[in-house]
Amino acid sequence: MFTQEELIEANTGEDIPSILKVKDLCVDFFLPGGVLRAVNHLDFNLPAKRITGLVGESGSGKTTLTSAILRTVSNPGKITQGSILFEDKDILKLTDKELREFRWRDTAMVFQAAQNCLNPSMTIKEQFIETYLAHKKDLRVDEIAALSSKLLKEVRLEPERVLKSFPHEMSGGMKQRVMIAFARILNPSILLLDEPTTALDVITQDYIFNILLGIHESTKMTMLLSTHDIAVVAKTCDYMAVMYGGTIVEMGDIYEMFEFPEHPYTKLLIQAAPSLTGDLKARTAIPGNPPNLMEARKGCIFANRCPYCEEKCRQIEPEAVTVSQGHTVSCHRVKKVE
Ligand SMILES: Nc1ncnc2c1ncn2[C@@H]1O[C@H](COP(=O)(O)OP(=O)(O)O)[C@@H](O)[C@H]1O
Ligand SMILES: [Mg+2]
Repeated sequence: MFTQEELIEANTGEDIPSILKVKDLCVDFFLPGGVLRAVNHLDFNLPAKRITGLVGESGSGKTTLTSAILRTVSNPGKITQGSILFEDKDILKLTDKELREFRWRDTAMVFQAAQNCLNPSMTIKEQFIETYLAHKKDLRVDEIAALSSKLLKEVRLEPERVLKSFPHEMSGGMKQRVMIAFARILNPSILLLDEPTTALDVITQDYIFNILLGIHESTKMTMLLSTHDIAVVAKTCDYMAVMYGGTIVEMGDIYEMFEFPEHPYTKLLIQAAPSLTGDLKARTAIPGNPPNLMEARKGCIFANRCPYCEEKCRQIEPEAVTVSQGHTVSCHRVKKVE
């Protein structure tokens, strides 16, 4: 899929620092029928100034992980264990005031139905100004309007028209682009994008990913893009983390992940995406069902669907091993490179 030059270029061994370090994170939903563990002892480092794709099927825990980073896990969910370090500060220990500052100023989020968050009774300009002033008071209203215009241009919207519009006067794709501009208003260093285009048509999706790539190119903002569509990750991201049953089973740079996937689930995900392999006949659904997250865990979370499952896999949970720089995988079949 990649040329030799591209592979060499990708593997020059540059050590990318992480901007966010998630350690041993557990998130539980306390339901009437029992406790559902949506995120299970998850470790994850988010590479700074890069776009990382978080890929996994529906229910694998992408939204829960993304919301945990902003401490917005919805009821009856609770973060029950772990730490999330940002600039050596644990987000899970921030005071309410510090948390308000962290949200929007350091990290902003755009999610699937984000456009529904726009206030129907205010113009876009009023909403930009209100959002800015809720966090910072250093700009005058006309300066905030000028900043808003710049950000709207970045998402290829006409500021003159859009700023005076009400949300109902815009299409879904336009509103989602407004939300991306909104997320940038306090110039955060991290942008979390949770299935930002899933509700939109394919053409609009592509258009929005191009816009995001343009923003990344000019700002080098760190992005975490969660999606169930591995083809989106292949087109857009520098790194890929594969999530399954509440943990990250494999992570690495995009070239490694697509050229040398190690985890059986990653391999199956790649095979199941015909637009990636170019072989439409080869499309294979991954057999079996996702794990029941309310049951006690034993062994590898993927064991019951894994074509290579052995007795050990049913009994012992595999630890993450590093197979090459920045490439980690949790599978008993994979041996550590000394
Ligand atoms: N508010 C909630 N109440 C109960 N269970 C939830 C809630 N939100 C998520 N879950 C459960 O947590 C698991 C992970 O969900 P989610 O993070 O939404 O996955 P994804 O975003 O990958 O589709 C799923 O089993 C889901 O049913
Ligand atoms: Mg989700």
